[in-house]
Amino acid sequence: MTTDTFIPAMPPRLSKRLSPIKAILQARRNVIAVWPEEAYFASFLAQKFFLRWLFIANSPRTVRHVLFSNVENYPKSDEMKNALGPLIGNSMLLSDGGTWRRQRRNATPAFHVSRIKQFSETMAATAAEQAERWGQEIDQGGGQIELEMGEQMAQVTAEVICRTMFSSDLGDKAEVIYQSFTEYIDALRQVEFDEFMGLPTWLPKRPRPRARRALARINQVLDAMIHARRGHEDEYQDLLSILLAVPDEDTGGDRPHDEIRDELSVFFFAGHETTANALAWTWYLLSQAPSVEKRFHDEIDRVLEGRQPAYADVARLPYVLSVFEEAMRLYPPIPILTRKARAEDKIAGKTIPAGSFVAVCPWLLHRHRGLWRNPDHFDPDRFYYEKVEPPAGMEPPKPRHKLAYVPFGAGPRTCIGASFARTEAVLILATLGQRYRLRLRPGHPVEPQSRLTLRPRHGLPMTIERR
Ligand code: HEM
Repeated sequence: MTTDTFIPAMPPRLSKRLSPIKAILQARRNVIAVWPEEAYFASFLAQKFFLRWLFIANSPRTVRHVLFSNVENYPKSDEMKNALGPLIGNSMLLSDGGTWRRQRRNATPAFHVSRIKQFSETMAATAAEQAERWGQEIDQGGGQIELEMGEQMAQVTAEVICRTMFSSDLGDKAEVIYQSFTEYIDALRQVEFDEFMGLPTWLPKRPRPRARRALARINQVLDAMIHARRGHEDEYQDLLSILLAVPDEDTGGDRPHDEIRDELSVFFFAGHETTANALAWTWYLLSQAPSVEKRFHDEIDRVLEGRQPAYADVARLPYVLSVFEEAMRLYPPIPILTRKARAEDKIAGKTIPAGSFVAVCPWLLHRHRGLWRNPDHFDPDRFYYEKVEPPAGMEPPKPRHKLAYVPFGAGPRTCIGASFARTEAVLILATLGQRYRLRLRPGHPVEPQSRLTLRPRHGLPMTIERR
């Protein structure tokens, strides 16, 4: 184990269960702050919120049941569709049955390893532009600058998605998108969050015109991309051309514009917001663990010898990848995956009534006391020594259960972009880490907060200095 492992920021751990009312109020603020210590030992959790049950599969066996063996009984819930529908319609993340199968089949070629290899050039080049921008700002700022890392990482990942999947530059619109998406999730009517989390919905509602305005700004950007492509579909082989070429199921003609935009939207948001958060958390963790940061920089310097990283380097940077994997263990970008039981079922001897909410919660699973050693500690070696022979005399890590670690979900609904994201993350971390060292603003409070994705509640203002 690394010498300076530390316990990174997390909400205070409760010693006992909250009363139902307190649990609801806490869940509305931050759902990952609601579980008592005992939840981190449990293999299956059941909580009744007044008339409705919320169950959490919290062991490899129960996760397998929900996401693999009985997956047909656990579709995405209507409530999740209500919360995200205005943004992404009935696109792949939310759809079920034949519609989902068709959408997944259509998009799969865009994620083939040969495509990811091609995309890696754009990923590295986009990261290099970000590095260049930081350099210019540092020169103007007299040696160092402070930037909000969530926003910085969203800028680079949004640009990567647009360039690779839609062959289009986002440029200064990246900031509009970041701000609008943040506004959208902040302004979502609270009732939609409550439904999404399986909470009762009788609590006061917040107005939603802000969400609609944010959505309109996002749609404007996506619409422009679609319009610019119309008539030029054959000139490109990217995801946007694939989506435009798919005929309408009923008429065989062109599909409605909104349907195409929804599909574009899901790749855009699922494809950049998650990776951006994971990267922002990675920089935070590195800034708090000097010996990990040193090994991270040393590997980058040794492997790249000052040149820009390429696809082949991803496999040669196992420590960089392990740091990223450990960041997603501690801060899973999607901290809770919710489903609804279609029919009555039994899990771990417990009856699951039809209509119950059933969730898999990477936040809990990744910190489970029975599945991980020192689960709250930041220790990339638990992933590193799965890839690299441990030094003589060091005990190899115990093999870990595949379903103890599910940042990308699992089963048929697993993330279609997992390889894309891993490649992109290593290339971005290596490009920026080659030139810069990042430091959290001293005394800044860090609190992970679940708002669809796991974001730092007060942001992550970080100082960037040349190495
Ligand atoms: C670190 C980055 C990422 C993380 C942690 C992540 C996580 C996830 C998770 C947990 C799911 C499953 C949700 C569920 O079961 O309810 C999912 C699904 C999905 N992700 Fe990702 N994702 C990442 C990057 C990406 C990228 C880069 C793309 C596309 C470019 C993408 C596109 C999607 C899509 C379309 C789905 C829906 C798949 C389906 O239902 O068949 N994701 N992602």
